[in-house]
Amino acid sequence: MKIQGKQYHTIWLKEGDSSVVEVIDQRKLPFQFKVFQMKTVEDTFFAIKEMVVRGAPLIGVTAAYGMYLALLDLGDGDRESVLKEKAEYLKSSRPTAVNLAFAVDEMLVFILNEIASGNLIERTLEKAHQLKAEEIESGSRIGEFGLKIIEEIYKKKGETVNILTHCNAGWLACIDWGTATAPIYKAHLKGIPVHVWVDETRPRNQGARLTAYELGEEGVPHTVIPDNTGGHLMQHGMVDLVIVGSDRTSITGDVANKIGTYLKALAANDNNVPFYVALPSSTFDWDIEDGVKQIPIEQRDPTEVSEIEGWAEDGIQSVHLIPEKSKVANYGFDVTPARLVTGLITERGVCEADKQSILKLFPEKEFE
Ligand code: MRU
Repeated sequence: MKIQGKQYHTIWLKEGDSSVVEVIDQRKLPFQFKVFQMKTVEDTFFAIKEMVVRGAPLIGVTAAYGMYLALLDLGDGDRESVLKEKAEYLKSSRPTAVNLAFAVDEMLVFILNEIASGNLIERTLEKAHQLKAEEIESGSRIGEFGLKIIEEIYKKKGETVNILTHCNAGWLACIDWGTATAPIYKAHLKGIPVHVWVDETRPRNQGARLTAYELGEEGVPHTVIPDNTGGHLMQHGMVDLVIVGSDRTSITGDVANKIGTYLKALAANDNNVPFYVALPSSTFDWDIEDGVKQIPIEQRDPTEVSEIEGWAEDGIQSVHLIPEKSKVANYGFDVTPARLVTGLITERGVCEADKQSILKLFPEKEFE
């Protein structure tokens, strides 16, 4: 996808130096385009924790490259236990998006299996590239399946399809295409008129800052709205469809996503607006049956709520928002129960949000 007319992925190797991994610094968008470099596993931990990179699929792929950087740094001694330690360290950077553990475990198993064979570094790098390529392919396929849903609505309605989304489940949260935005981009490219209601997504404003930015770069009509506006729009027939992403989805179809998603699902349910969740299979947690009780919810720094960041003449600045003595709660995610989800759009197709339908698409998971 594009930034200032130039094609980008969100993560790549530095040109001419395969020991440096580069990412777009998402803390600076939409005000500044800056590249952040990772040379060590500690840099990778920092990038994930401080949200230089964010969004479940990108967190996973970044961690995969982090394991490659850990391998580059490995001295003599007990290599296996150091690698296991680095893997746990990376996994502790953020708790909710399961893509992180998925990618780290996949890399660790690969490295430990191959540790005695030749070309380990090159092959580990290939493995990280492969996980990246799979996420791009998943995004594209999610886009094709989701496109059919948008097309159906357009056929019935005959005019612009209004889609509401929350947070940033766009290409910036992935590698390319995005999850929730992939069907939107595919529809837009096909000439289907779409318009996106973009929830601003306090406290970090991933909607206002990132989703609006990338939709703008791709020329997709959109309107940024305060987080509390969706219910009103739905009551007045101004939303045809909600599509959001996910950070972790239980095997029973409960969906953890950015805080506030649950309230959108309730409003959609009350107004008969279809509520879809787009996710690659790396976002399923096959071990969790009850998302509300079992998915760990990240609590972040209170200053994300008590302050707000924006652009001032001399750069990005924060200003204080609330009385100094007031307490703050900052839960990063909530869980939307499966009963409020119309369907899950995956790289293998669309299914209902229940265990039977999910396992029909992913039969190999039944016996793992
Ligand atoms: O805290 P963030 O910005 O990492 O949260 C991101 C989200 O909640 C996204 O909606 C989710 O990761 C899906 S990304 C395709």
